Amino acid sequence: MSEFRRKQMEHLQDLRTQAQAGGGPEKVAKIHAKGRLTARERILLLLDDGSFHETGVFVQHRSNEMGMDKFRPVGDGIITGIGRIDGRQVYVFAQDFTVFGGSMSEANARKICRLMDQALENGCPVIGLNDSGGARIQEGVRSLAGYAEIFWRNTMASGVIPQISAILGPCAGGAVYSPAITDFTLMVDQTSYMFVTGPNVIKMVTNEDVSFEELGGARTHSTRSGVSHFMASGDKECLVMTRRLLSFLPQNNLEDPPVIKPTDRPDRREEALNTMVPTDSRKPYDMHEVIRLVVDDADFMEVQPLHAQNLICGFARLDGKPVGVVANQPKVQAGVLDIASSIKGARFVRTCDCFNVPLVVFEDVPGFLPGTDQEYGGIIKHGAKLLFAFAEATVPKLTVITRKAYGGAYDVMNSKHIRADLNVAWPGAEIAVMGPEGAVNILYRQQLAAADDPEAERKRLVDEYNETYANPFIAAGLGYLDDVIEPADTRMRLIGALHDLAGKKQVLPPKKHGNIPL
Ligand code: HXC
Repeated sequence: MSEFRRKQMEHLQDLRTQAQAGGGPEKVAKIHAKGRLTARERILLLLDDGSFHETGVFVQHRSNEMGMDKFRPVGDGIITGIGRIDGRQVYVFAQDFTVFGGSMSEANARKICRLMDQALENGCPVIGLNDSGGARIQEGVRSLAGYAEIFWRNTMASGVIPQISAILGPCAGGAVYSPAITDFTLMVDQTSYMFVTGPNVIKMVTNEDVSFEELGGARTHSTRSGVSHFMASGDKECLVMTRRLLSFLPQNNLEDPPVIKPTDRPDRREEALNTMVPTDSRKPYDMHEVIRLVVDDADFMEVQPLHAQNLICGFARLDGKPVGVVANQPKVQAGVLDIASSIKGARFVRTCDCFNVPLVVFEDVPGFLPGTDQEYGGIIKHGAKLLFAFAEATVPKLTVITRKAYGGAYDVMNSKHIRADLNVAWPGAEIAVMGPEGAVNILYRQQLAAADDPEAERKRLVDEYNETYANPFIAAGLGYLDDVIEPADTRMRLIGALHDLAGKKQVLPPKKHGNIPL
């Protein structure tokens, strides 16, 4: 090799080494000490071995202000590229906190935007590994413009390709809006945080004292705000969760989610379901148990498991096919629907619908939560979100009423009337306008007041009401239920229906877009 060529190769190698090194060993040691991994370590853990093809390797920023002309790190603190997860192509970007704190520059944004454009053109998911101090302060409005370009692409890609955001460090200010638009946000306990304005600004404006963790840590967003869908104990677990999540989603909205070879018998009966619901209808039971007994291999990936726990949402498989499960949880607030659970459910139903994941509903709902908090907070419009989402969904929709289906919640929870494909109930189901106590109080107030023994009379009227209304056979007689089934057969019936609905095509009336009550 000539000296000239040798020098060229050395120069190439030198630049590549610089790109690999990020901010250097000192800065790497600093983030390792905080329990975080580097951007490159994360990419390696996320993707199948040896599958990563990096793009924009040598991109540098073009700023000259504030001494920036003296330091133009190779790659500019963002790593982008294409790789595979379980053999499926994905597009990944990872912010490198060791370079300018992973902050967003114009060049940085262009790399991400190019990646997103390619992901959309190729119909593949985008996964963002976020760890950034936000807008690169030295670049001013150029950085803000970069963010907005990303937000616009997030919006255009929404409902077309799955977009997943892992938050693995800081994510503050307007930067939070990209993850918020994407389909799923995962956070790491203790090392990640998200907020629009930080503790210092809050102290100045409202005089509140709040820590980073309390304000925007993974626990806060996984329990209170619902911003985060999954909480991991460390970077590694977060990346494993991301891989698993993707296994339930298709590459894009024109494909079906990947079907795996089933390892659980489709005709498996589950006798335990026959005794799952207590005979006293006021007693709770754990709907997680029902889900685990019905789905393949008891394998359930719960979405937002710590938020609005009165409604369970998550992914599972039936005979190898991914399904989205939505289930009232009688163990938490008797499974009542409130603002938080309605919003949680609506978002999940729409996510499943846009990515062709059939919906399976397990229903045991006493109604919507009464109270001024709920009414002032807008339970009307938030409850309507869930109703709208189910009504608009065109994927196969299956409902099993395990016990209560009362009032408006009966209609909302994927009833036949809003076009569910299969509606079945267990024999002890109670389907009526309201529960017996409330109904008797309204219908027989005078009769009760005049009775010699009001309590005995109340009991007689409640029993009579239960016998007349609190059963599945009125709804079944009207054709609102397709069948009343032995609980043990639930898995079999759902799998049968999913096979029957494999060719379902439902077209909505032409429109620009629906106007879901936001
Ligand atoms: C440029 C930044 C930066 C930023 C951090 N750095 N944030 N450089 N622009 N936004 C640099 C630091 O100068 C430092 O460089 C290195 O990254 C590491 O930062 P440290 O402060 O040493 O790290 P740490 O102690 O872990 O603190 C992390 C941090 C803090 C809490 C994120 O860096 C911080 O508060 N940064 C500013 C956050 C912020 O206010 N960003 C703007 C948000 S508003 P050296 O060379 O010393 O290692 C926003 C608007 C977006 O982003 C709008 C979108 C529409």
